[in-house]
Amino acid sequence: TFVVTDNCINCKYTDCVEVCPVDCFHEGPNFLVIDPMECIDCTLCEPECPAGAIYKDSDVPYEFHEFIELNAQLSARWPVITERSITAADADQWDGVTHKIDHLIV
Ligand code: SF4
Ligand code: F3S
Repeated sequence: TFVVTDNCINCKYTDCVEVCPVDCFHEGPNFLVIDPMECIDCTLCEPECPAGAIYKDSDVPYEFHEFIELNAQLSARWPVITERSITAADADQWDGVTHKIDHLIV
């Protein structure tokens, strides 16, 4: 499965959702996650993310390992998103900020 990690938080550009052939992205208030039960490892979403927030599970950097479980947990409660939504005005200012998990709204 692929995993959405820290740099998506408060950026949430949503470019990723349009390319997913199995609609496995789920949307929270300021973050997106991938349902590991649905992802077919097509790899299409990874290069679409302007924030570089998506990794194959086996390539997730050590500091982001908690996101593997977080994607599984939150995808079970958040609704599916299949179309791009409006990006927050301050998204670009959050791009590259570290440890944004402190700002995650669940
Ligand atoms: Fe969807 Fe493919 Fe990305 Fe998995 S790897 S989330 S199936 S676009
Ligand atoms: Fe997040 Fe990147 Fe998608 S910022 S919403 S994973 S395009």
